[in-house]
Amino acid sequence: MQFSIKAQSPEKIPAGCLVLGAHLPGDAGGALARAAQSADRAAGGALRRALAQGDLSPKAGSTLLLHGVPGIAAKRVLIVSLGERREYGVAAFRDAIRGAAGALKGIGAKDAALLVADFAVAGRGLPWAVRNAVLGMREAFYRFDQLKTQKKPPAPALGALALALATGPVTLQAQAALKEAVATADGVDLARTLGNLPPNVCTPSYLADEARKLARQFKLGVEVLERRDMERLGMGALLSVTAGSRQPPKLIVLRYDGAAKSKKPRAPQLALVGKGITFDTGGISLKPGAEMDEMKFDMSGAGSVLGALRALAGMRAHVNVVGIIPTCENMPGGAATRPGDIVTTLSGQTVEILNTDAEGRLILCDALTYSERFSPEAVVDIATLTGACVIALGHVASGLFANDQGLADAIRAAGDDAWDRVWQMPLWEDYQEQLRSNFADMANIGGRPAGSVTAACYLARFTKKLKWAHLDVAGTAWKSGREKGSTGRPVPLLVRLALRRSGRK
Ligand code: BES
Ligand code: MN
Ligand code: ZN
Repeated sequence: MQFSIKAQSPEKIPAGCLVLGAHLPGDAGGALARAAQSADRAAGGALRRALAQGDLSPKAGSTLLLHGVPGIAAKRVLIVSLGERREYGVAAFRDAIRGAAGALKGIGAKDAALLVADFAVAGRGLPWAVRNAVLGMREAFYRFDQLKTQKKPPAPALGALALALATGPVTLQAQAALKEAVATADGVDLARTLGNLPPNVCTPSYLADEARKLARQFKLGVEVLERRDMERLGMGALLSVTAGSRQPPKLIVLRYDGAAKSKKPRAPQLALVGKGITFDTGGISLKPGAEMDEMKFDMSGAGSVLGALRALAGMRAHVNVVGIIPTCENMPGGAATRPGDIVTTLSGQTVEILNTDAEGRLILCDALTYSERFSPEAVVDIATLTGACVIALGHVASGLFANDQGLADAIRAAGDDAWDRVWQMPLWEDYQEQLRSNFADMANIGGRPAGSVTAACYLARFTKKLKWAHLDVAGTAWKSGREKGSTGRPVPLLVRLALRRSGRK
């Protein structure tokens, strides 16, 4: 979908559909948002009269479609309910954009104009509304049907959406917000598609090829370490996870250097480390069968790193970021790692693997140690790490852990800004004793209590030299049930975080 910003009186925009907002319930006169009121005047009050019929439900996101409104250049007018004015906030904004998208999908309009200023949320500003209108629309129009031979329903007609500012010039700010949003949406789409692809397609080799493709397209630096490189380096933990698999493991390093060349650091301001288990059977500690297919999403951290880098490169952000992706399968088999095996990690510390299903931390610990060589100002790992995190925070917030409170605060702020939220959990020493092992430096599991905390505590033992945070996205990276599919989270958060670290936002 093509997006643009237009500054024009709404009644004069010659679109297939003009989308405007109204607060309901309310008397029909006061209900229409500001730019919509000017459209109504041009239409001789036709919009107010339509609202007065009571056909638009007050629920935010409900829509009313009008045809051939006099005085309005657009062929159709879509009035979207914004809910009650007093209660209008981010949640109603999202419902309204989603509702508009749903209605636009169902009609034949090839292009539309949305009066974005009328949808803006108090305290968040117009650039925020532009960004989130684009992201919301792209989310709603996303399709993953490449593996269906019969495409039903047919693709929606809408190919272009103008975000109309109603009055005043098209500001640089609004243009920048649009550019950022479209690139972010491209990154979210990439993460979603990689997540949705089946595990017989999206293998570690596929992810490596995808990284090489991004590198070609956006002139990024790319390097892929193979099994023999890992052996030479001594990545015993990563290698123990891949032992039962026929698919070769990869460690992908992708670099985007967008900061001004004059700026001293070639060193990245941010390293993003993404868990890339392309399928998690649990290994010898085999998972139960129900919903095991969803373990194809266990590479979502990796997908979000590729998505974030694509977004930052696409918008030419002024920041240096390195993405590090350890990727392999976790399979049972004659060569698989056994519970009780002890391995030596890249850091030199030894680990007793008491449960082969706690594999994410094993590939991450070696990748985190490896990240030290880039001397990043901060490291954030992203992982579908624990079922316990889903129990703790559900599907709303990602779990946040950090060994540096400044970094944690920056991530929380970026998450709030992008409405891709996180909630901080403790990394206290008190939990470390749960990782005690009788036979090695540590065990890879800490028992049932505080499962996501002990997983983070395990990682903390490998990040002492780093300013580091860990995002557990087990509950937020995908949806189950009828709506099963990748969400692309936390790409919006990561992009905002990197932009804020660039010092430009
Ligand atoms: N990939 C899973 C975590 C997961 C499970 C995410 C369910 C989303 C839904 C991870 O590798 C895993 O299996 N973790 C175990 C750890 C346990 C063995 C200590 C878990 O959470 O059960
Ligand atoms: Mn597992
Ligand atoms: Zn896993």
